[in-house]
Amino acid sequence: MGGFVYSEVRCMVVMMGLILMVMGVNGNSIGVNLGTQATHPLPGNILVQLLKDNGITKVKLFEPDPYALKALGKSGIEVMIGIPNDLLAPLSSDMKAAENWVAKNLSSYVSSNGVNVRYVAVGNEPFLKTLNGTYDAMTLPALQNIQSALIKAGLANQVKVTIPLNADVYETASNVPSGGDFRSDISDLMLKIIKFLNDNACPVTINIYPFISLYNDPNFPVDYAFFDGFSSPLDDNGKTYTNVFDANYDTLVWSLQKNGFSNMTIIVGEIGWPTDGDKNATPTSARKFNQGLITHLSGGKGTPMRPSGPIDVYLFSLIDEDNKSILPGNFERHWGIFNYDGTPKYQLNLGLTKTGTLIPAKGVEYLAKKWCVLSSTANISDPQVVSSVSYACGHADCTSLGYGTSCSNLDAPGNISYAFNMYYQEQNQQDKACQFPGGISAVTTKDPSAGTCRFIVQIKRIGLDLHGICFGREILFHMECFKHPRSVIEAYSTAWLWRATCRPQPGCGRLLLAQRRVEDRLLHSLVVAVSFWQHIGILLR
Ligand SMILES: *[C@@H]1O[C@H](CO)[C@@H](O)[C@H](O)[C@H]1NC(C)=O
Ligand SMILES: *[C@@H]1O[C@H](CO)[C@@H](O)[C@H](O)[C@H]1NC(C)=O
Ligand SMILES: *[C@@H]1O[C@H](CO)[C@@H](O)[C@H](O)[C@H]1NC(C)=O
Ligand SMILES: *[C@@H]1O[C@H](CO)[C@@H](O)[C@H](O)[C@H]1NC(C)=O
Ligand SMILES: *[C@@H]1O[C@H](CO)[C@@H](O)[C@H](O)[C@H]1NC(C)=O
Ligand SMILES: *[C@@H]1O[C@H](CO)[C@@H](O)[C@H](O)[C@H]1NC(C)=O
Repeated sequence: MGGFVYSEVRCMVVMMGLILMVMGVNGNSIGVNLGTQATHPLPGNILVQLLKDNGITKVKLFEPDPYALKALGKSGIEVMIGIPNDLLAPLSSDMKAAENWVAKNLSSYVSSNGVNVRYVAVGNEPFLKTLNGTYDAMTLPALQNIQSALIKAGLANQVKVTIPLNADVYETASNVPSGGDFRSDISDLMLKIIKFLNDNACPVTINIYPFISLYNDPNFPVDYAFFDGFSSPLDDNGKTYTNVFDANYDTLVWSLQKNGFSNMTIIVGEIGWPTDGDKNATPTSARKFNQGLITHLSGGKGTPMRPSGPIDVYLFSLIDEDNKSILPGNFERHWGIFNYDGTPKYQLNLGLTKTGTLIPAKGVEYLAKKWCVLSSTANISDPQVVSSVSYACGHADCTSLGYGTSCSNLDAPGNISYAFNMYYQEQNQQDKACQFPGGISAVTTKDPSAGTCRFIVQIKRIGLDLHGICFGREILFHMECFKHPRSVIEAYSTAWLWRATCRPQPGCGRLLLAQRRVEDRLLHSLVVAVSFWQHIGILLR
């Protein structure tokens, strides 16, 4: 008997060893979501280096962003590419559209850029209750068409389809995980989708947000959102739940099991905690949650229903995005584990590197060390002040102001200065962006940051001062960052596209249009992209 137990244990150790080889040093399998809704995105090459330096080997994109995908080429990093909900309709009704999508947005990157695409996320939380069923009829056909297109392209073994679902697709009547089942209004649909995914050995993906539970329900027990123990744990027929993550995940496990899919692979597509914009959103609580989660799952541990993980998670998110919609709340622009400039927000051990700390982005270029503030001679009762602040905050990100935020400690003049500075930085420190009417603003070189409130200096957008003049077929332009030797210029307008390699000259570039004749009116909408992942508007005269 003893010998039998011994060999069984040893066998398990060998298997664990194999699993550990493809995971981080602590047996973690952690990816990140990478959004692109920032006014000053970090260049793709810097982002990819940031991922590598932090041992992150899995990335989830919400769209097949060409600049992100090019930068990710040959990096070995596993990529999940998202399809936005508004494409579900065309993809569901037309097989050809799905084939085109795969050819244009996937195959080409795999074959010519060496991007390691592993998943296609078809839609994003399409069955959210608040979407009123808009995507119910089209999601499964779109999923099926994309899968057929992958098979046709010979990619179905490497690339798996999935659908990132909001956790409200299942529910439990009894308040414990074992009562879990799919939401009654979409139950039939969910079973068809799950069957399709299961038949094709594809995973189900779920987004879990304990922060939102806390945000929506003031009576939600705070300790239950985290991983440090809970004084009144849930008892589910002997299985004990001390955190809502486990309970939520296992409610899905039960929902699957009850319907005959006990073996489905589950991916947690989004999970995280924001750091600003709400009283529960602080670096301290974000660290507590994310570190708690990582430790909870470390060594390939799982939940009470699936104790022998590993559980695949994609943190939401890598970096803050200051141009996201704040419809969900002011916290929406503050989910990053890194700030806008790639500096870590708090100490976090992802368990993916030997050092166990977050490594900041390298080679980030900042604008000058100057800030726009309320002028010392301004009268804050001046009616111009109110309109100027609302103008500034209408264009730039002021979500760090207000109750329970990092800048709630500011006095009234501090508030005004904060708003002015955010606008000034967003506008790349242009002189005229610090000339609010009535002389109420002024530029300073003394950092106004105070306590937890940080007055930022923005990072450089490549090609910041881009002015072009069109001479017939030739465009002459001035662009600061053309000194970057690897810059590849791609210019698009509605009617044509061309590509040219930059000929670096001090502060000046020259492009020849491929088209023989270019109509002036087309040139107004020219967009130039430089050095992967930078979109720049060019104004032509
Ligand atoms: C910010 O978002 C708005 C609305 O989605 C968009 O029109 C605008 O171009 C974005 N700005 C930048 C700098 O990305
Ligand atoms: C590729 O993806 C982009 C972004 O989602 C989308 O706008 C475009 O229509 C897709 N291309 C094709 C051929 O489907
Ligand atoms: C869903 O329905 C509600 C109530 O009728 C409406 O207010 C909301 O705008 C709808 N949402 C969408 C995405 O259609
Ligand atoms: C479940 O997965 C295990 C391990 O992958 C496999 O051995 C077993 O056959 C599967 N069971 C079913 C019902 O698919
Ligand atoms: C500040 O402006 C208010 C409103 O315009 C005015 O009543 C007040 O006298 C001004 N104070 C100073 C010191 O100028
Ligand atoms: C600062 O601005 C915030 C948000 O606009 C406001 O709630 C707060 O009352 C202001 N504080 C002062 C001292 O004016």
